[in-house]
Amino acid sequence: MTFPDQVRIVEVGPRDGLQNEAGMVSAAVKIELINRLADAGLPAIEATAFVSPKWVPQMADNAEVMAGIRRKPGVAYPVLVPNLKGFEAALAAGAAEVAVFGAASEAFSKKNINCSIAESLARFEPVAQAAKQHGLAVRGYISCVAGCPYQGAVEPAAVAEVAAALYRMGCYEISLGDTIGVGTPRKIQTMLAAVAKAVPLEKLAVHFHDTYGQALANLYAALEFGVATIDSSVAGLGGCPYAKGASGNVATEDVVYMLNGLGIKTGVDLDLVFQAGRFICGELKREPASKVARAMAAKLA
Ligand code: HMG
Ligand code: MG
Repeated sequence: MTFPDQVRIVEVGPRDGLQNEAGMVSAAVKIELINRLADAGLPAIEATAFVSPKWVPQMADNAEVMAGIRRKPGVAYPVLVPNLKGFEAALAAGAAEVAVFGAASEAFSKKNINCSIAESLARFEPVAQAAKQHGLAVRGYISCVAGCPYQGAVEPAAVAEVAAALYRMGCYEISLGDTIGVGTPRKIQTMLAAVAKAVPLEKLAVHFHDTYGQALANLYAALEFGVATIDSSVAGLGGCPYAKGASGNVATEDVVYMLNGLGIKTGVDLDLVFQAGRFICGELKREPASKVARAMAAKLA
């Protein structure tokens, strides 16, 4: 168990963050946010989701967002797709990377994407095939890796099984989501140990929500385990519309601050992420959830 020298941060605020905002954020604001995040040095920015607008109206402007962003060379702009319909729309909008999203809990799968785990995997298979045919990269998500809001406990073996299936179908990376933030460091390491038996460790990413304030501690545990890809959300925006009470992802500012302190390279400029967070929080008329952003703002005042 050694810390990685370098960590790739996948910024999910424009999707995971803004999908959960009650108020509508315009496509122009989303585009400005994504461009600012790219300028801050983030290597991957999840831009939007090609899901049903009846289920998640906040992402209905997906094609407009994809058309408006300035694609910075070297930056990936993945988008969520739950099925072939979403894949085709993402392809038409010029996406070069898509992400399918399943769950380790049957109850959550039903609530989130209206099908069982087995049905979801059967839907993702043709998406993965179509992506391969068109030269698009596919990322795979698993929700509820440390617990489910509907079913309670989730066994590490259940996470490993879904991870293996996503890996087999061609996902280049599996992002392990603690959707409701119930994990604690030891539990996360136990879950990672089970998943790493099924999928190579370097193919795993962690995606922690900070509902119980455990996200940074859990990230430290994942880093100690050797995970080198972290999902986070600028200003700690976010949640999940199908996980009641889920708060935002761990804040990008907090992650970058911690990694800087540990001497782990990210290529991300903390000041510019902080400015991007101030921009979106100004639009949303709220304070950032990020403690680092609040401390930085207090210094400026
Ligand atoms: P369904 O109702 O079972 O779908 O929803 P259906 O296939 O029966 O179709 C019903 C209607 O939806 C039809 O339209 C389809 O055309 C349309 P109608 O004939 O009624 O007018 N439809 C679509 N429209 C646009 N884009 C599509 C699409 N597919 C069907 N792709 C479905 C199934 C999966 C579509 C729905 O449940 C859905 O969109 N769910 C998305 C939920 C979501 O986005 N959740 C948040 C993201 S996941 C997350 O946040 C967790 C994560 O961050 C990790 C973590 O933290 O754990 C990733
Ligand atoms: Mg999430």
